[in-house]
Amino acid sequence: MKRLIDKLHIESNLSKNELLNLLNNMTSKDIIYLKEKANMVRNKHYQNKVFLRGLIEFTNHCKSHCIYCGINAKNSLAHRYRLSKEDILNCCNTGYKLGYRTFVLQGGEDPYFTDDKMVDIIETIKTQYPHCAITLSIGEKSYQSYKRFYDSGADRYLLRHETASKSLYESLHPNMSFENRIRCLYDLKSIGYQVGAGFMVGLPNQTNEDLVQDLLFLKKLGPHMVGIGPFIPHEDTILRNCSSGTVDKTAILLAMIRLILPDVLLPATTALGTLHPTGREKGLKSGANVVMPNLSPTNVREKYSLYNGKICTGEEAAECMNCIKGRIESSGFILDFSRGDNINWKRKY
Ligand code: SAM
Ligand code: FES
Repeated sequence: MKRLIDKLHIESNLSKNELLNLLNNMTSKDIIYLKEKANMVRNKHYQNKVFLRGLIEFTNHCKSHCIYCGINAKNSLAHRYRLSKEDILNCCNTGYKLGYRTFVLQGGEDPYFTDDKMVDIIETIKTQYPHCAITLSIGEKSYQSYKRFYDSGADRYLLRHETASKSLYESLHPNMSFENRIRCLYDLKSIGYQVGAGFMVGLPNQTNEDLVQDLLFLKKLGPHMVGIGPFIPHEDTILRNCSSGTVDKTAILLAMIRLILPDVLLPATTALGTLHPTGREKGLKSGANVVMPNLSPTNVREKYSLYNGKICTGEEAAECMNCIKGRIESSGFILDFSRGDNINWKRKY
């Protein structure tokens, strides 16, 4: 195993069988060695900095049917909300004062937010905060829509592929197309965004073979960011009785991703922190280098309920920031308040 980990470290690549061999057979000693290598690589490219992104969950209306997700269109028990443009700008203002220089606008696939509305929001944020980066995470759109958002100032786009196994994808996303999801990611890349793909760990019926497909897909796509997190069931979905993914398995995959894509921006996600009190710290110690504290108004936090037990639903933005700061610094990392672009990305124009 040590030889395979060294090979992954040096070549940033392994064959399908080699990746599977690692996932199936690493001992706890091997895993420690893997994480050491992942940390070395993260430190080589980004030192021990952790970049902060202010997350604004601006709508939980969604027309999609992802069966694992608590805000999917079918869940009639979800309490739906939308933030106004003014609310969103207030979140940016609070975030800016706290030091954030990246705003992540995330939401369900909400037709209310037409392209014109999104362009207006993006342009206003860019005018008021010209030195800040805008990340969008609003799902599948046409090439033309993605291009308009980019032209109006959006810099990054997060769209997890969720799973690179077509059959598993189709079983989790009725009426959605795996090919379209992948098309979106390549469109985003060709337009010039910093692109974030990613997947869930521990999905029902997911095998190590599926996870190897995820790793191979990431290598092929070459995204600038990768968001992975454990699957956690939501009580109002049909997966309510399924088991969650684990922090340990997610940490292993984070470390492998760091070796496969050495300069990638890799968040330690809220879902990791939800499964274990120090889950995000474990992520950072496995090669992650981004944290996304919540900037949404506290009165809507609980409503953006993707899975059971989501943390940070009660805290004000400043409390969240201080909590995260303490966690990052006590784990031996330093907070970085810059935009935190991928070191190999430049805006096309
Ligand atoms: N609508 C956008 C999209 O499709 O990319 C962004 C919002 S979506 C709620 C953000 C992410 O939440 C998804 O990409 C998915 O990986 C994650 N997610 C949803 N339900 C989850 C669950 N039950 N457990 C863990 N992660 C979940
Ligand atoms: Fe929000 Fe800890 S990160 S309370």
